[in-house]
Amino acid sequence: MIGIRICGTGSYLPDNVVTNEAFTAFLDTSDEWIRTRTGIVSRHIADSDTTWSMGAKAAQRALTDANCAPEEIDLLLATSVTPDYYTPSISCVVQGEIGAKNAACIDLNCACAGFVYALDMARRYLACDDVNKVLIVSSERLSGISDYEDRSTCVLFGDGAGACVVEAADALYAFDMGADGTGAHLMFGRHVLHRSPFSKAPFVPNKILENPSKDHVLYMDGHKVYKFATQAMPLSVENACKKAGLSPEALDWIIPHQANVRIVQTAMKRLGLPMEKAWLSIDHCGNTSSASIPMALDELAHSGKLHRGQTIAVTGFGAGLTYAGAVFAY
Ligand code: UT7
Repeated sequence: MIGIRICGTGSYLPDNVVTNEAFTAFLDTSDEWIRTRTGIVSRHIADSDTTWSMGAKAAQRALTDANCAPEEIDLLLATSVTPDYYTPSISCVVQGEIGAKNAACIDLNCACAGFVYALDMARRYLACDDVNKVLIVSSERLSGISDYEDRSTCVLFGDGAGACVVEAADALYAFDMGADGTGAHLMFGRHVLHRSPFSKAPFVPNKILENPSKDHVLYMDGHKVYKFATQAMPLSVENACKKAGLSPEALDWIIPHQANVRIVQTAMKRLGLPMEKAWLSIDHCGNTSSASIPMALDELAHSGKLHRGQTIAVTGFGAGLTYAGAVFAY
């Protein structure tokens, strides 16, 4: 099976750093609760940055890191749950901004598993002769859909973008991914509905819980998503390792979706791996949905601790419910 090579990575975080303490001005919460229950200490919140502008900055950094001209990109895959527009796609706007004029553009919404889905999609395109370089851009502006009256969700999320340039390689690669749509109602944010002059019946959203007037902001059943996550995260890595003919102990690094440090601890325990093998950025980034894995990958790649030839697992889960894991040689 054809593998991948990450040629370069990049990321972008808005300047505005919001500490846990800042939430105590308008919510009944505390630094201690957020820190101990989630591992989050601070997050970056966008001010003038948009989803596409953060994505374009991360993309430019990844291109520079890969020593790759924008014109060399054949396919641009963008992932987000917080696009700026219904249309055009983020990938098209980013393509125009960075001058990747030869790239076909596709957006994916697979929530927090989006980057891993995109990586696997990139590999499949790269297996064809006419696609040589893929740029993946994952950008999220979750502050735009967070409910700042709900302490159980708004303290978790942050904004930012991560990107990488990928090409085909004769190297180890295996994946495991899927979804459980029966859990769609466990995490959602509905588009604000524009009523046409032809609509007669009142709109009754069919998956909405307590407060329909607030269903356009992010809702999450934290307990149920937590339970799903603690099973899906280690399972996707175990299954990908099985396909690769590896035991999880052979992994040098795990880059997990950064939703809650306790989820990562549970997953690492089940995999029989020490926490030192998990790269964490949740303390200063919070949960940035699909951007969290490529942002963490960029940090790890520039930390001096990741070396060519090492084996990495990336694993994400989220709204949908989606899950995805991939194992590959760096
Ligand atoms: O990226 C997409 C996937 N998302 C996730 O994976 C998130 C998964 N879920 C979680 O990480 C956790 O469920 C949360 C962090 C959301 C919640 O943590 P928890 O340990 O499950 O807390 P809890 O919901 O059991 O709440 C415990 C208590 C409650 O108070 P009572 O009922 O015991 O009086 C909550 O009301 O903590 C309260 N609480 C808070 N207190 C202070 C909830 N949020 C806060 C808060 N500050 N921000």
